[in-house]
Amino acid sequence: MKDSINMDTVQQTIQTYDKIAHDYCTKTRQAKFLDWEETYIKKLMSYIPTPRPLILDVGCADGRHSIMIDRNGGKATGIDLSKSMLIEARALHPKGNFRQMDMRELTFNDHFFDGLWSSGSIYHVTKADVKKVIKEFRRVLKPGGVAAINFKLGQGEGMQANPKSYSGSPRYFAYYTEDEMKDIFASFGFEELNSCTYPEEMFGENNQMMWFRREVPPVP
Ligand SMILES: C[S@@+](CC[C@H](N)C(=O)[O-])C[C@H]1O[C@@H](n2cnc3c(N)ncnc32)[C@H](O)[C@@H]1O
Repeated sequence: MKDSINMDTVQQTIQTYDKIAHDYCTKTRQAKFLDWEETYIKKLMSYIPTPRPLILDVGCADGRHSIMIDRNGGKATGIDLSKSMLIEARALHPKGNFRQMDMRELTFNDHFFDGLWSSGSIYHVTKADVKKVIKEFRRVLKPGGVAAINFKLGQGEGMQANPKSYSGSPRYFAYYTEDEMKDIFASFGFEELNSCTYPEEMFGENNQMMWFRREVPPVP
């Protein structure tokens, strides 16, 4: 990728999503995935006692998870940096609330959300930037708020163009072990609530979901 060597990795990844948005959304919107994903959204909702909780859907793509959040009693706000993904989201969920935003720099007020759903998005930032992202997650979550985080198990990071899908379209991937993810979240005051591996036959290998609760700082 000679011409993109100095390009910001997020910018390059988003350029790819702008190009593949429709194809990506068509592939991921299959019933066999949706049922499974909704069980994980239900689990997130089960940890949040607030009526009609506000949930941030980070890297929302076509907004199918925002629809599930709304259907399961929440009120979703979807953010994505890709304009093409937001066109898909507004077409699929015209009543949804979607905004173009970089997860590294959220423009919401402190303690705005009761919960946060991040499926397949934080692995697109570098390991150096992921701390900035989790700090932002902590800032926008209320004390006691819950985050559901999907990531890819493994080690290392880098720009990858998968020859089998979206050939010639590089995206940045950072891989984590469960312990590594747990430690990063713990360093920002999050406690692990649960962890599940996605069924490999449906989602391929290495897909993990972890649920974390943001600490409630003691009253001075
Ligand atoms: C693998 S897709 C996952 C989409 C959807 N959440 C799902 O589970 O199918 C990653 C999404 O994250 C978005 N994304 C990547 N980097 C981002 C960033 N820095 N800020 C906001 N969105 C980003 C991409 O545009 C894309 O829609």
